[in-house]
Amino acid sequence: MTTALITGATAGIGAAFARRLAADGRDVVLVARDGKRLREQATELHDRHGIEAEVLVADLAEEDGIAAVEARLSDRKRPVDLLINNAGFGNKGRFLEVSMADELRMLKVHCEAVLRLTAAATASMRDRGRGGVVNVASVAAFVPRGTYGASKAWVVQFTQGVARDLAGSGVRLMALCPGFVRTEFHERAGMGTDNIPGWMWLDADKLVTTALADLARGRTLSVPDPRYKALMGVVKLAPRGLLGGLSSRAGRAYGPR
Ligand SMILES: NC(=O)c1ccc[n+]([C@@H]2O[C@H](COP(=O)([O-])OP(=O)(O)OC[C@H]3O[C@@H](n4cnc5c(N)ncnc54)[C@H](OP(=O)(O)O)[C@@H]3O)[C@@H](O)[C@H]2O)c1
Repeated sequence: MTTALITGATAGIGAAFARRLAADGRDVVLVARDGKRLREQATELHDRHGIEAEVLVADLAEEDGIAAVEARLSDRKRPVDLLINNAGFGNKGRFLEVSMADELRMLKVHCEAVLRLTAAATASMRDRGRGGVVNVASVAAFVPRGTYGASKAWVVQFTQGVARDLAGSGVRLMALCPGFVRTEFHERAGMGTDNIPGWMWLDADKLVTTALADLARGRTLSVPDPRYKALMGVVKLAPRGLLGGLSSRAGRAYGPR
């Protein structure tokens, strides 16, 4: 039996990863802040699939939370074979409309936690000669989009760089870049979604299926939908100024100006 640790497992993309990996027969370690929700989910996955589902309550915006997950990933007696660094959130508003505390919290969860958990996981995976890490970024990594886009660009560059450094070790890393996915993300951030056309929305379960197939193929970057693959082709050719304007209008709610 192999074990997957998923951060941000209570909702959205993380919950979809947990469902899929448990259905595949993996034991899971579910990480997030909401202990009640995590325990309910663990019970459901255990009852439905007969796997072991462990709960680890941790706030990845806090030192203690990151350290607790690092410790779990470094526990060589209970090895983790697959790490899904998925926890994340959006901040409503443009630069200077978001408090510095919220900007820094985002960098802590999206960058520092991803760096430290990836290091903790891959150190023991490399010694065992196998393992995988999926770092959930976003297509926002490829367009000018404030701290959120910048943090996700870091995730892509970091993940592809480490994948190169660990090539041949048996450890695979992949940055996952979804477009808009129907989850709790936008509601939690208080962002309106009325201006996002229906065709742009992705389903979390389908996204996870494609992502895991891409990881199995050895991809280091996954943009898991033909619509967004085409869009990314356009993005590569479009002027940065135009991209910035479009990106700001699509799903980035404005605070007061
Ligand atoms: N939805 C989209 O359109 C979209 C598009 C591209 C990329 N993404 C990325 O996909 C990832 C998952 O987002 P989602 O759409 O699934 O959002 P979601 O439905 O809001 O779920 C976010 C998850 O992250 C957890 N989380 C948030 N802050 C945390 C913290 N400080 N410590 C630990 N866990 C924390 C939440 O659990 P608790 O509240 O219980 O802690 C929840 O389980 C994020 O990295 C996001 O940037 C989303």
